[in-house]
Amino acid sequence: MPNGITAIAAAKPPRPSAAHDAMTLPLVEPLRIGDLVVDPPILQAPMAGYTNYAFRQIVRSFGGAGLLATEMVNARGFVWMDKELAEHPDRLWGVADEPRPLAVQIWDNDPDTLAQVGARLAHEYKVSVVDINFGCPVRQVTEKAHSGSYLLRTPDRMGQIIERVVAACHPTPVTAKTRLGCSRDKINIIDVAQIVEGAGAAALTVHGRTAADMFRGEASWDLISQIKPHLKRIPLIGNGDLDTADKVVEAFRRWNVDGVMIARASLNKPWLFQQAAAALRGEPVPPDPTVEEERALMVEHFRLVCERFGEERGAVLMRKFACCYAQGRPGAREFRKHVVMIDTAREFFDVVATYFPKA
Ligand SMILES: Cc1cc2nc3c(=O)[nH]c(=O)nc-3n(C[C@H](O)[C@H](O)[C@H](O)COP(=O)(O)O)c2cc1C
Repeated sequence: MPNGITAIAAAKPPRPSAAHDAMTLPLVEPLRIGDLVVDPPILQAPMAGYTNYAFRQIVRSFGGAGLLATEMVNARGFVWMDKELAEHPDRLWGVADEPRPLAVQIWDNDPDTLAQVGARLAHEYKVSVVDINFGCPVRQVTEKAHSGSYLLRTPDRMGQIIERVVAACHPTPVTAKTRLGCSRDKINIIDVAQIVEGAGAAALTVHGRTAADMFRGEASWDLISQIKPHLKRIPLIGNGDLDTADKVVEAFRRWNVDGVMIARASLNKPWLFQQAAAALRGEPVPPDPTVEEERALMVEHFRLVCERFGEERGAVLMRKFACCYAQGRPGAREFRKHVVMIDTAREFFDVVATYFPKA
């Protein structure tokens, strides 16, 4: 797939001046993941513990994300729950019925298990994309389950997994999300990218850090951009540290990616996708919500969480989301101090009204 920015830029007439050039925004093409058109090519990242149905509904309400993703789902756990006729994992909350497009991310290291779960998601749940996690650096997933980023040590195994899952999910596209390598001295993303493509994946997302980096340092977009010339057919989605609409525009302008994915910043500003999409279209960036609107948003988020988990569990769950909304706002520390103590809806509403945000 040609790089959309370069292709369009090449077809454009010369621009009148450097000043104008600096102001001209890049044009991007929609992203194609198999037959799925992702427009705009801005993806909401999977985040365990966060990107559940409630959060996705909030993101959807603003628009601007071309593809949303669930939290990562443990494939082995899914199979076990099925056998035991237990309820499906909380992480599949909403997946059967919510609007598409939607990607579900799965993790394990066994091709058969992943293929079995991928097939269910593709054919029964009819999700838009089955994404495989090859990036999680958390010990429980790597050392204990030899999955996630652990599989970067054995790219051939990644290839076998992808081949099996692609065959099982057909025609639903299967994608891979990974990091640059296991550590800075073991960066193997170019080999990995070629194996991922050769095995039949429909897109590759790369977080510009290694597993050993966890979240330290800056994401290396330079290394992400070096992957692109090695991919013949599938789009490259870059990920890491995008927290403003300007940075999203910059990523397309400088780093040779077909799409971008946003994770942490969207917990703080779920409207960031909408702002980035406007910026990519060259339109004025919509302002952040007012304080009143943001309070109402948090109340709506809480309502959605309680619908599934009830008030008691919902209140506990909502504490961390509320802390994310508050991050960087005036009085965030004071707000956090109070919101982590709430146990009921009443207490939550009171804390939001009194402390969010307050200098
Ligand atoms: C709390 C948290 C949970 C995450 N869970 C997942 C996950 O389930 N699957 C995954 O592929 N990546 C996961 N990630 C990684 C993000 O998707 C993303 O790659 C990373 O945060 C870098 O992007 P950012 O700088 O925009 O946050 C998680 C990150 C965070 C902070």
